[in-house]
Order: sequence, then structure tokens, then C-alpha cells
Amino acid sequence: MSDTVRKNVLVFRELPPDQLARLKAQHKVTVANPRVPEQAARFRDALATTEGMIGSSYAIDEGLLASAPRLRVISSVSVGVDNYALPALAKRGIMLCHTPGVLTETTADTIFSLIMASSRRLVELANLVRDGHWQRNIGEDLFGWDVHGKTLGILGFGRIGQALARRAALGFGMPVLYHNRHPIDAAKELPELIGKITHTPMEELLQRADIVAVVLPLSDETRGLMGPREFGLMKPGAIFVNGARGAIVQEEALLQALNHGTLRAAGLDVFATEPLPLNSPLRTHPKVTAFPHIGSATFETRHAMAVLATTNLLQALAGERPLAMFDLSVV
Ligand code: DGY
Repeated sequence: MSDTVRKNVLVFRELPPDQLARLKAQHKVTVANPRVPEQAARFRDALATTEGMIGSSYAIDEGLLASAPRLRVISSVSVGVDNYALPALAKRGIMLCHTPGVLTETTADTIFSLIMASSRRLVELANLVRDGHWQRNIGEDLFGWDVHGKTLGILGFGRIGQALARRAALGFGMPVLYHNRHPIDAAKELPELIGKITHTPMEELLQRADIVAVVLPLSDETRGLMGPREFGLMKPGAIFVNGARGAIVQEEALLQALNHGTLRAAGLDVFATEPLPLNSPLRTHPKVTAFPHIGSATFETRHAMAVLATTNLLQALAGERPLAMFDLSVV
């Protein structure tokens, strides 16, 4: 490919070798992860000429965009787009691509694992064995709480919320209440869940669900959504699970609900600050099962995300419509 067609591409988080090779076959590629101190200067320098970026888990704010005057497209290796200054992208005419769909089932698996782990105290009990404390049959003080048959409340009912509902309703006989802006037409969209899911106002969902799972995107509307009032509305003995974004939850309010309210436990894959600071009380709280943001972290799914993100970028740089473009007209 001639140098006039080859574009400057900045890879800001490691890509699998086969996907990096696809990019290098067509474009001039700089790999520089700004979170790695030795690569930060190379990242900053590359911004001046970069036309396309691909990566994840780094905040691309307005100031950074101002130092990338030739940037035309960002391809995020994530479905969430909360790391990007969306109005600034829209204003500058920079396209944003992401990876919906390919991580749906894996992320729903992770969230269901959080439900199982926090209800049945799986991590605590596995650690008890590991630490050599299994000296006699466990007693009631270590019993868990059944998951099957419990009422699950799902806040947010996009692809992942629906995949979670299928697991809960079809696999575990759980009645599902869900809350999102628009009720689903189950007959058309989820026929297998007819009669098993109920669109419910948020307040009522919090009052009725035994387990509440957050599966919402982070936006101005959802930031801090779960606060003291919302935790206070939850059923005594209920479990709270967050597999979406940490900032949707007021962590201090969650701690209060765990320490002084009636919340039984919390399962968390995401936190307001990640990695979770060592001094966060959530890290060692006896009622918290904490995962290190592993929603999509399997070999198969992370590779599928990288393939889709690379394809998105190559298509955008070739002037084609990418497979998965985020609609910036709505921001
Ligand atoms: C996503 O794709 O948004 C996951 O949370 C990984 O960041």
C-alpha cells in the first residue's frame, strides 16, 4: 500500500498479535500505552499526527483531543463509551466505534457469577478451605442464601440485561423485574421470556427484588443513581450487584447500607476508581465479593472484541461505514 493511503494509527492498549498485524499490513502503527510510564511520552508525541486510535480503559478528554488535530476515528475495544468526551468528539466530527454484541453472553455470565458468589458466599468459603480452616462441617453461621426462585431486579435492559434475564428466568426459575426507559415487547423481542419478565418502575423494583443487578451504561443520567435513598428502599436482606460501571453507585451509600442497613451482601465487578485503591473499605469488606473488572475478560471474548474493534477501525480509515459505530448524534 502506498504511503499516501497508509494512515497514522495509534494503538493505546495492547492488541493481540494477529490484530496488530492486520493494522500494520495497511497503516503506519505506533503502539504506546499512556498508562505505562515509559510509553507515555511516545503516546503524547504520536497524537500530533494520528488519524485513527484503537484501545480502551483510558480517558480521552477534550484536552487530549485538542492535541490530536488530524484524528478522524477512535475505535474503542469496549462496549462502554464513558471514557470518551462524547460532545467534544461530536463537535470535532471524530467518529467513535465500539464493540457491542460480542461480549454480551460473557458479561452476563460474569454478573450471574457475582449473584451466585455473593448469595452462596462462594469466595469466602473457598478461602476458608484454602486457608486451612475447614476443620469440621460448616454451621449456620456460614450458610448461604438460595438463588433459584428469588426475584431478580435488573436496572437497564439492553443486550446484557436481557442475557442476564434469560439465565435467571430460564435456568434458575427466577421471576425477573426490569427497569429501563422503554418496556420490551416480549412477544416480538424475547418470546422465550413471555410471562417471566415484568417492566417495573425503579422504586417498586428496589422494594420487591431479592437481588438487584445494575446493567446500565454510565451517563449523566445514571451517575450516582444508587444512593442512600435507593439502598434504603431495597428489601431487608437483599443483595446488590453491579456489573456495569462503578460511578453509577455512590460507594459511601453502599457502605452505609452494608454496615448499618439491611443489605445482605454486594457483588461488584466495577468501582468508581479502578484498579480499586488498596485503602478502599470495599476491598476487604466481609459482605463484599469484589472482582477486578472482568465482565468480558475471557480469551474468546477479548479476542472477539479486538477483532471487531480492528475491523471497525480499518473500515473507518478506508472511508467505509464501520460495523459498530456509536451514534454521537444523540449526545
Ligand atoms: C466494556 O466493554 O465496556 C467492558 O466494561 C470492558 O471495559
